[in-house]
Amino acid sequence: MKIAVLGTGVVGRTLAARLLDLGHEVAVGTRDVDATLARTEPDQMGNPPFAEWMTQHPAVEVLTFAAAARFGEVVFNATAGSASLDVLTAAGADNLAGKVLVDVANPLDFSGGMPPSLFVKDADSLGEQIQRAFPDVRVVKALNTMTAALMADPRLLADGGHSTFVSGDDDTAKKTVTGLLEELGHADVIDLGDISTARGSEMLLPIWLRLWGALGTPMFNVKIVR
Ligand SMILES: NC(=O)c1ccc[n+]([C@@H]2O[C@H](COP(=O)([O-])OP(=O)(O)OC[C@H]3O[C@@H](n4cnc5c(N)ncnc54)[C@H](OP(=O)(O)O)[C@@H]3O)[C@@H](O)[C@H]2O)c1
Repeated sequence: MKIAVLGTGVVGRTLAARLLDLGHEVAVGTRDVDATLARTEPDQMGNPPFAEWMTQHPAVEVLTFAAAARFGEVVFNATAGSASLDVLTAAGADNLAGKVLVDVANPLDFSGGMPPSLFVKDADSLGEQIQRAFPDVRVVKALNTMTAALMADPRLLADGGHSTFVSGDDDTAKKTVTGLLEELGHADVIDLGDISTARGSEMLLPIWLRLWGALGTPMFNVKIVR
């Protein structure tokens, strides 16, 4: 499958590398290809410059957000939540129309320092904001409740069988995403319902962030025991 991953951070890189390993054609989207490849400093999270990552993944195409959106049959939104609506506008509603958009972003607000708060919650969610802004896109919220390494390969945790969630209005789109999640190794994919249920998975972030602090590692996940 042709998959576009919008985002050059750790999530975009980790998902792109794994989807490529699984045999998909992958393009990564960024604002300005030349500027992104010219960066020589680690990003604010300490990840090496994108060009360094590219030397290890030469099969990945690096395109503008718009060209990547045009390329992908399925598109992942792995951009900063505060920028996601602008990124998708730059990607172009026409390029995205009818496509499945896997929304991995979280509505984190870092303006008050760490840990971040949520800039939308309770009565709305980033997933819903994206679906409202792009009514022709089939938005599925997924994977936002775990660290990037586990999104791409949940079997990195010895205790397998942990859970992931999908939210979206389009059942066929959710089936497509569930299939991709299963390819990645997610064994327990729970369909929460329509896109408004993204409020629930996004609001897991405050406890996720506190668990990260308490456990001292992001390598943990939610497991729903029935
Ligand atoms: N890190 C994790 O393990 C994790 C786990 C769960 C969910 N998430 C969510 O996944 C998303 C990606 O996280 P991340 O840590 O990989 O990267 P990030 O630093 O949150 O986002 C990087 C991407 O956002 C774009 N971006 C940032 N500011 C922008 C702006 N003002 N205008 C346009 N584009 C902008 C960047 O574009 P350029 O490429 O042009 O620089 C880049 O592609 C976030 O929403 C995050 O909350 C992350």
